[in-house]
Amino acid sequence: MAYETILVEIDHYVATIRLNRPEALNALNSKLLGELADALKAADRNDKVRAIILTGSEKAFAAGADISEMAGKSFVDMFESDFFTPETDALLSVRKPVIAAVAGYALGGGCELAMMCDFIICAENAKFGQPEINLGVVAGIGGTQRLTRFVGKSKAMDMHLTGRFMDAEEAERSGLVSRVVPTKKLMEEAMAAAQKIASKSGIATKVVKEAVNRSYETTLREGILFERRIFHALFSTEDQKEGMSAFLEKREAQFRDR
Ligand code: HXC
Repeated sequence: MAYETILVEIDHYVATIRLNRPEALNALNSKLLGELADALKAADRNDKVRAIILTGSEKAFAAGADISEMAGKSFVDMFESDFFTPETDALLSVRKPVIAAVAGYALGGGCELAMMCDFIICAENAKFGQPEINLGVVAGIGGTQRLTRFVGKSKAMDMHLTGRFMDAEEAERSGLVSRVVPTKKLMEEAMAAAQKIASKSGIATKVVKEAVNRSYETTLREGILFERRIFHALFSTEDQKEGMSAFLEKREAQFRDR
């Protein structure tokens, strides 16, 4: 399917979805988020996709929600459309692993979008921020909640209240990103990580995602019980037999998602 604001490529079982509004530093408007939701749903259904990379350009992952689209809206407009919630729910519903590969600006909704992915790999030139305070508003698609869980209250308050940006080194130190890589190598590193994930059992990777995400939604005791039960359940899969046999036979496992 041809999109206007994103580019989609599938290679070696990895779908790369690139935000592509260079004239506005990939600012998120309804068109882009609608196309992104569509592409994510398609990738999740596609048997030729086992992992997904969400990225932008070297200058910007996304500089936030499109201010020109939002500026004239009323409370009722925002409330009735539940602004960007249906579109971002599509990202949160993807069952396959999604890596955010962030270079340049990831601000406001851009930072929030990256935090909705399963993990973030960023380039040395990345800059994260929640500068909505400068516009007289606050984050609207999870930034006050997710950033706080990633980096703790003090840094989250600092970022949201002052609108300052966090560079890649600080983002890694604070747990916002899993790794920082040279800017020119961002896609190579993200692709290597995605291909590694794609080589695992597709059942086990989906289960990992469900279990880790559950740690945000439940108590430790309930989360551990959930993990234990799905760990037990995986012993009903062929992939568990294959993975353990392959180890014992000193060969590469061939997973079949069964
Ligand atoms: C619309 C944007 C934009 C945005 C940049 N542009 N960010 N357009 N919405 N969020 C446009 C500029 O208007 C400009 O268009 C072009 O992109 C290049 O931007 P410049 O400002 O000229 O670039 P630069 O000087 O390099 O500065 C980069 C920047 C700055 C620091 C990222 O653009 C900036 O501060 N942007 C806004 C960041 C922001 O406040 N984000 C939060 C948005 S609110 P022209 O046509 O002039 O060349 C939000 C709420 C989320 O995200 C809640 C969601 C529901």
